[in-house]
Amino acid sequence: MIIAVDGPSGAGKSTVARILAKKLGFLYIDTGAMYRALTLKALENNVPINDRLRIFKLAEGARIDLHNNADGSLSVVLDGRDVSLDIRKPKITQVVSDLAKIKEVRQVLVKLQRELGAKGDCVLDGRDIGTVVFPDAQKKFFIDASPEERVNRRFKELRGLGQDVSEDDVAKDLANRDKIDSTRKASPLRKAEDAIYIDTTKLSIEQVVGKMMGHIS
Ligand code: DC
Repeated sequence: MIIAVDGPSGAGKSTVARILAKKLGFLYIDTGAMYRALTLKALENNVPINDRLRIFKLAEGARIDLHNNADGSLSVVLDGRDVSLDIRKPKITQVVSDLAKIKEVRQVLVKLQRELGAKGDCVLDGRDIGTVVFPDAQKKFFIDASPEERVNRRFKELRGLGQDVSEDDVAKDLANRDKIDSTRKASPLRKAEDAIYIDTTKLSIEQVVGKMMGHIS
């Protein structure tokens, strides 16, 4: 069974998708982490994010693995190296949307996501899972929250990771990524027609997961 979880940045999709996967005993696939890992590779190799051809070549040569750990966390491994923390840094977050809008890069990563999904039951979270990657997914969710709440959550998350960011920085970053992610030509963020819409603004994580479980069982 494939469960697609899409939505804008900071709505809490990754958190609920990870918990849902653990509860169901499914594999959890964080597709945003793949775009982030590739962005890290580009920055480390001094490849400009807008150099489509070189970024595409980099994508083709990259080995990105996701490991589901027993405690429910996810390890992201790029070319054999654990980059789970590095990919959450501001320098990645600031430019990842620009890399994710490159059509050829999306083709490479979508192929990888479909291969992983073909291995069995899984929950995938991203922006285009229900619309492009797995349009036939058995269950689709679109997880949303008000812009203020999304800024608030992302701010707390980054502070929790020890990052010295201001609320204003986070608000600017989210607004910028929302714009790029939803207006790009290749697979823009949008709700699949048959996705279940959940506004999580006033809900706890447990309540959101509970609602999702209610739609699955
Ligand atoms: O979910 P995230 O913040 O880790 O995602 C990082 C970026 O990757 C986000 O700005 C949009 C992009 N992305 C995408 O275009 N398609 C996906 N399936 C997942 C993420």
